[in-house]
Amino acid sequence: MVPLRPVWQAPKVVREKRPLRDLSKAVMRPFAAGLALAAIGMVAVHAEDAKKPDPALANQLNPNDKTAEPDEKLLAKDAAVKVEDGKYFDAAGAPTFHVTDNGKKVDWYSYSGYRRYHAECHVCHGPDGMGSTYAPALKDSLKYLSYEEFVGIVVGGKQDVNSSTQKVMPAFGDNKNVTCYMDDLYVYLKARAAGAMGRVRPGEKEDKPEAARKQEKECLGG
Ligand code: HEC
Repeated sequence: MVPLRPVWQAPKVVREKRPLRDLSKAVMRPFAAGLALAAIGMVAVHAEDAKKPDPALANQLNPNDKTAEPDEKLLAKDAAVKVEDGKYFDAAGAPTFHVTDNGKKVDWYSYSGYRRYHAECHVCHGPDGMGSTYAPALKDSLKYLSYEEFVGIVVGGKQDVNSSTQKVMPAFGDNKNVTCYMDDLYVYLKARAAGAMGRVRPGEKEDKPEAARKQEKECLGG
């Protein structure tokens, strides 16, 4: 019988005496390689791509949702310039959200990210990315964190060394329920940060893309 412990107690990996920075490097290595490859792929694709938002991919927000707090600058920056197998990308090549039908419908990844967030992250970061006394509001953090920074923190964890309160963001690098849905989580929180999604459970969603099915199977099965 494994004794129950409070959720905010860091998993064993963080409690080791090793400095956190070393740890995150070790955990990051396989991911860094993958990321580097992904980055190269993105650059190659983007050399030929138009960087302008595609009007056909424009977001259609719900003007009546007072919980959404739209941020025009971020909405412009995060606007999709292309879609590939149901996954949307912004001009920087990072995955992004796509909200349509007056805010009633979201892309698959935003929907999936909403579910994953509320399975793995909300206990500390609060429902809908609103934050708690223990952990920061990710709807604010994602206003400035890049995709790479986000992945780095989620995989390797984070500990505020100057804080006397010892608050720890656990490393999720070996948790497939998180790593296999990294883009989903990022896209959902980015939509919250830009105010494209409010504090409501997404209603309709785009169909689950074949690419998502394939990636999920490979990631969870490997
Ligand atoms: C056990 C509690 C806990 C869980 C569960 C947790 N976090 Fe955290 N997280 C924290 C704490 C505490 C911090 C602040 C750490 C610091 O600043 O040193 C943090 C920080 C972060 C940051 C950096 C925010 C910033 O402003 O710098 C990101 C991004 C993040 N968490 C994402 C996630 C995601 C995504 C999940 C779910 C997969 C998650 N966290 C689950 C406790 C948690």
